[in-house]
Amino acid sequence: MEDADIGLVGLGTMGSNLALNMAEKGFRVAVYNRTTSATEAFVAQAGDLADNLIACETYEDLASAIKAPRAVVLMVPAGKIVDKVSADLSAHLSDGDMIVDAGNANFRDTNRRAGEADKIKVMGIGVSGGAEGARHGPSIMAGGAPEAWTRMKPILTAIAADYDGVPCADFFGPEGAGHFVKAVHNGIEYADMQIIAEAYGLMRDGLGMAAGDIGGVFARWNNGALASYLTGISGEVASATDPDTGAAMLDVILDKAGQKGTGRWTAIEAQHLAAPVTVIEAAVAARNMSALIDVRGEGEALFGGAPNPVGLSLEQIEGALIAGKILCYTQGFDMLARASTAFEWDMPLPAIAEVWREGCIIRSDMLNDMARALREAPDMLLMFDGYFAKLLTDSLPHLRAVAESSIVHGHPAPALTAALGYFDTMRRARGTANMIQGQRDFFGEHGFERLDRDGKDFHGPWASNS
Ligand SMILES: NC(=O)c1ccc[n+]([C@@H]2O[C@H](COP(=O)([O-])OP(=O)(O)OC[C@H]3O[C@@H](n4cnc5c(N)ncnc54)[C@H](OP(=O)(O)O)[C@@H]3O)[C@@H](O)[C@H]2O)c1
Repeated sequence: MEDADIGLVGLGTMGSNLALNMAEKGFRVAVYNRTTSATEAFVAQAGDLADNLIACETYEDLASAIKAPRAVVLMVPAGKIVDKVSADLSAHLSDGDMIVDAGNANFRDTNRRAGEADKIKVMGIGVSGGAEGARHGPSIMAGGAPEAWTRMKPILTAIAADYDGVPCADFFGPEGAGHFVKAVHNGIEYADMQIIAEAYGLMRDGLGMAAGDIGGVFARWNNGALASYLTGISGEVASATDPDTGAAMLDVILDKAGQKGTGRWTAIEAQHLAAPVTVIEAAVAARNMSALIDVRGEGEALFGGAPNPVGLSLEQIEGALIAGKILCYTQGFDMLARASTAFEWDMPLPAIAEVWREGCIIRSDMLNDMARALREAPDMLLMFDGYFAKLLTDSLPHLRAVAESSIVHGHPAPALTAALGYFDTMRRARGTANMIQGQRDFFGEHGFERLDRDGKDFHGPWASNS
């Protein structure tokens, strides 16, 4: 046969939609799924698009259905499964063929696989947008060898989301660079979702608003500076009614969220890179605390849990979200810049912002301004850009009021308060680490630098006393 443009392994939620997207754009796709009945059912239900799909029962069939040099996309769970599928598939591939891991791999695994790759090339791409994005246009963050990108670019840009005629698919560097960008995307996604959840909590518990009314507020905010996919769906989620009980849907959903890995990886890698991503860290920790639902019940029984009403206006809560969002994205792009330097990836930060403008979960109007700001000054913290500095200056009093009110009245707002702590730290030239350095020198003779002299190895008077 040998006439498929591309192969795809894994016809789950993401893989099946990506395959349909490729077929719709005119590519012939050879598809394989571990469970063969799923492959058959998938092609049978593909309607007209079935003409562009070739169902394969084995990796051997798959390899022989694709034009050489072959490219095969994997859409299977990350980790050992990717290694196993790659090994089994490689037995049927030839020199110059390529495996494109499109799952949420840890970028260190992708680095390893790229390093181990011999005859078969390895590419790692992050795909965001969920099932809908995969079907109609995801945001695609690619990494690997530049020639691998050159080969895959026509297909990836054709299936990607489109922002004003610009495809939301781009290449960000060697090895696991694409998967790294996807992890940071997901870290920001966690943070954005968390600050929205905190705003919801203040409206529900602090202002006593019903879910439907909160939905209306999010819908209104979605027409302003906060316009984004996440603000929009938060409005829809809050406004929805449970068809079984007639209650507000949100009021019957258990307040317990898990985390699959990418948000956690972002927080872990941030520590390696000395990147202060405090809002993302707070969001990951908040999900972990949400899972401790029984312990939280015990805490409420012991200490009392009901927070007091707050005297905040909706404008203040909106402003807090605007400031929190700018600060969280500032941290995320700073982390990407640090990774680019540390791993010598030469990542184009403005292009990352551009790829996130459409198709992905964190898509928002603000990302267009962020792309502009990063294009003008890629080495500057995003919040120092004139436009964002002004927006931050205007919205910061609201973040401060919301943080103050949350603390005084007992509302947990760990991500919003982390954002404020970051801001207050990053606008002070004279901080408090002189005390840390004094302590370190006292107990460990680590030495310190002085404000008034050059040199690194000064000691305090306590050294001579010990
Ligand atoms: N869902 C999302 O919104 C989303 C968004 C972005 C990225 N991702 C990432 O995309 C990847 C796929 O996610 P998904 O949501 O599409 O998963 P899914 O719906 O659970 O599908 C998993 C696919 O992998 C196959 N598979 C599982 N174990 C396998 C094994 N041991 N050997 C061979 N094939 C195996 C399954 O085949 P069977 O039918 O035989 O079980 C199925 O086709 C993951 O890395 C995920 O993190 C997901």
